[in-house]
Amino acid sequence: MSRRRQLYEGKAKVLFEGPEPGTLVQYFKDDATAFNNQKRGVITGKGVLNNRISEYLMTRLNEIGVPTHFLRRLNMREQLVKEVEIIPLEVVVRNVAAGSLSTRLGIQEGTALPRSIVEFYYKNDQLGDPMVTEEHITCFGWASPPEIDEIMSLALRVNDFLSGLFLGVGIRLVDFKLEFGRYWEGEEMRIILADEISPDSCRLWDLATNDKMDKDRFRRDLGNVAEAYQEVARRLGILPEGGPRDMKGPAIMQ
Ligand code: TMP
Repeated sequence: MSRRRQLYEGKAKVLFEGPEPGTLVQYFKDDATAFNNQKRGVITGKGVLNNRISEYLMTRLNEIGVPTHFLRRLNMREQLVKEVEIIPLEVVVRNVAAGSLSTRLGIQEGTALPRSIVEFYYKNDQLGDPMVTEEHITCFGWASPPEIDEIMSLALRVNDFLSGLFLGVGIRLVDFKLEFGRYWEGEEMRIILADEISPDSCRLWDLATNDKMDKDRFRRDLGNVAEAYQEVARRLGILPEGGPRDMKGPAIMQ
């Protein structure tokens, strides 16, 4: 196997140069962090599950015409994606009050919101990803007004589709975070969905019991983190063949 050049290492993923120009290999680690890296841990098997769950959700989104960076899964922990210029925003969509919204505004967790809310955070670890408004985004040139419109419209389409998809398997999509990138096809630039969609980046509550099935189990020390991620995959009908014994996946190949 040829050596791949590592381009970027984040908290939960590593990006390598892809086999063809304009592609990248996205490797999913088992590492977990919370509260901007203050809490760290390893959730064994998380990378395998997130790779598979993100593949599934991005594929379904592609099918309904939401453009994404996902090309194909390569193995248990890696997927081939389109190389994009990441827009430095974390786009959060909320349907139910939880997490920072509840803390900041004193709204009890679990309160259904009268309409979905889209929030923007500036993607900058040193600053702790501060919340920003469209004024900041355009003033500092992170995205243009038409790009913001496109991002909002895509984020709400993703929300509508994923809310229904999860509802169908007994899960409430409370909130989630998306990242977008600029992708060039010749002279044409398109905004496409990038990064991942997984229990690391979503709040997923069991519809019947309100049990948390996402990274809040790690953030709040609730235990059974990998089991919850596995249950999400099981309900989506995509548990890796071979079941839990396959969860570790291969060691990182370089
Ligand atoms: P928050 O309530 O902490 O602002 O999180 C909102 C949603 O965004 C939640 O589903 C978790 C996700 N999220 C990330 O994916 N990455 C992050 O760094 C943060 C803070 C939240």
